[in-house]
Amino acid sequence: MSDLPIALVSDHAGFALKTSLKEALVERGLPVLDLGPDRPDPVDYPDMADRLAAAMKAGQAERGVVICGTGIGISIAVNRHPGIRAALCHDVSSARLAREHNNANVLALGARLIGQSVAQDCLITFLDTAFAGGRHADRVAKLDRAGA
Ligand code: RB5
Repeated sequence: MSDLPIALVSDHAGFALKTSLKEALVERGLPVLDLGPDRPDPVDYPDMADRLAAAMKAGQAERGVVICGTGIGISIAVNRHPGIRAALCHDVSSARLAREHNNANVLALGARLIGQSVAQDCLITFLDTAFAGGRHADRVAKLDRAGA
């Protein structure tokens, strides 16, 4: 993994989980780029997704985490940006396979559907797992060609 920080965004529904994941990353000595929000007031998940995608496009982070109530809205939104491969995960196996097979660069979580400890395990697995490459590499390359 690169030395770049892990970028985090949420909407209001994901605010508490974002705060707890940020603390867990800091405790592990991992650099974090918290792109907001900084309070749990209502915000629209597409706006937060755009913010994370812009930071990644600008090279400020190579890995990101997006969190909303279900993880669905914010993963749809962030996946509309070229180069983003966001995987909505509810368990550690999905988080591992999202990295090994899909080279996912963004982990999406649903704060209203997943416990804090499972979410943390998903994140650590996501960060610690390498892309397997091989037969998966051509398939992942095709993702970026879709619609081009
Ligand atoms: C906000 O109430 C909720 O709709 C949002 O967090 C998310 O779950 C949308 O997909």
